[in-house]
Amino acid sequence: MKFKETDQLPIPSPPLSLTRWWSEETVAIVTGANKGIGFALVKRMAELGLKVILTARDTERGCKAVEALRAQGLHNITFFCLDVSDPYSIKTFSSWFTENFAALDILVNNAAVSFNEINENSVEHAKTVIKTNFNGPKLLTEALLPMFRTSSISRILNLSSRLGSLNKVGNPSIKEVLESEKLSEDDIEAVVSLFLEQVKTGTWKTGGWPELWTDYAVSKLALNAYTRVLAKRYEGSLSVNSFCPGFTQTSMTRCKGDHTADDAAIVGARLALLPPDKIQSGKFFLWGSSSSTSTSNNNVVVSSKL
Ligand SMILES: NC(=O)c1ccc[n+]([C@@H]2O[C@H](COP(=O)([O-])OP(=O)(O)OC[C@H]3O[C@@H](n4cnc5c(N)ncnc54)[C@H](OP(=O)(O)O)[C@@H]3O)[C@@H](O)[C@H]2O)c1
Repeated sequence: MKFKETDQLPIPSPPLSLTRWWSEETVAIVTGANKGIGFALVKRMAELGLKVILTARDTERGCKAVEALRAQGLHNITFFCLDVSDPYSIKTFSSWFTENFAALDILVNNAAVSFNEINENSVEHAKTVIKTNFNGPKLLTEALLPMFRTSSISRILNLSSRLGSLNKVGNPSIKEVLESEKLSEDDIEAVVSLFLEQVKTGTWKTGGWPELWTDYAVSKLALNAYTRVLAKRYEGSLSVNSFCPGFTQTSMTRCKGDHTADDAAIVGARLALLPPDKIQSGKFFLWGSSSSTSTSNNNVVVSSKL
């Protein structure tokens, strides 16, 4: 099924129980899951009966999160420490995963940082933001690619943001590169390097980059572009999508937002668990906006413009 930019994907129906294709042997990994949307996604997928690996960069915070979920009767959750900004941590995690699990079905690249208050736009931490929000998920994905189950369509869901949409880019040549059908990983890396170079030289403000939370937006712009490249490369065997959960009440937004992390996770889990005959790839799912701020509006906009 093909969606145009304005198409709506109905989220709540049919009930997940009717489209259940997974079993208790289906394995999902969620990064940055000690709190916020990641935590809520682990909870949701564990409630639905999947085997979930909750990862967090801090062992104490991660173990506390698992304990909290076990106290709610969810015992199908395993913890492993994973700092996505640290290539050694990614290597250690993927080795542990390979030794302990036969295959991977779902990877949710959720972990991310932003150092700005809502109305700020400092790029002081741009390197860390890019490393955590773009380089980390890319490296982790590459490390885990050989582990994806081949007997069914495996899934990657990249938590992204509409702040990183292509229509936020003011520089036509950057837009042209990212929109190209021939887009490659090298092209994406070149765009990210150009941004970091302009941050270094103090020229980024006139570079035509997204104007809100610029470093974060560039990291998500790059993640979206990577989503598209990967989706194309693994067409038919791996579904790779981006998902913007909308303005959600978490630490990242200082608890401001239109809905809770649990609300966002209901939608995110549904997207990650789309039945095989409805599966999408290379799409940007957008949920929540000023006009659809509650779970009573259960449509997700599907944009092909990643
Ligand atoms: N909230 C929103 O309005 C909103 C909107 C659009 C998109 N998103 C996206 O949704 C995702 C979840 O965000 P959130 O709102 O739930 O934010 P959050 O509450 O701040 O949670 C972020 C999570 O990422 C973890 N993390 C940060 N750096 C990490 C690293 N290097 N390695 C591993 N984990 C790391 C954090 O761990 P610590 O506790 O150790 O810091 C935390 O668990 C992000 O990708 C975000 O960009 C959020």
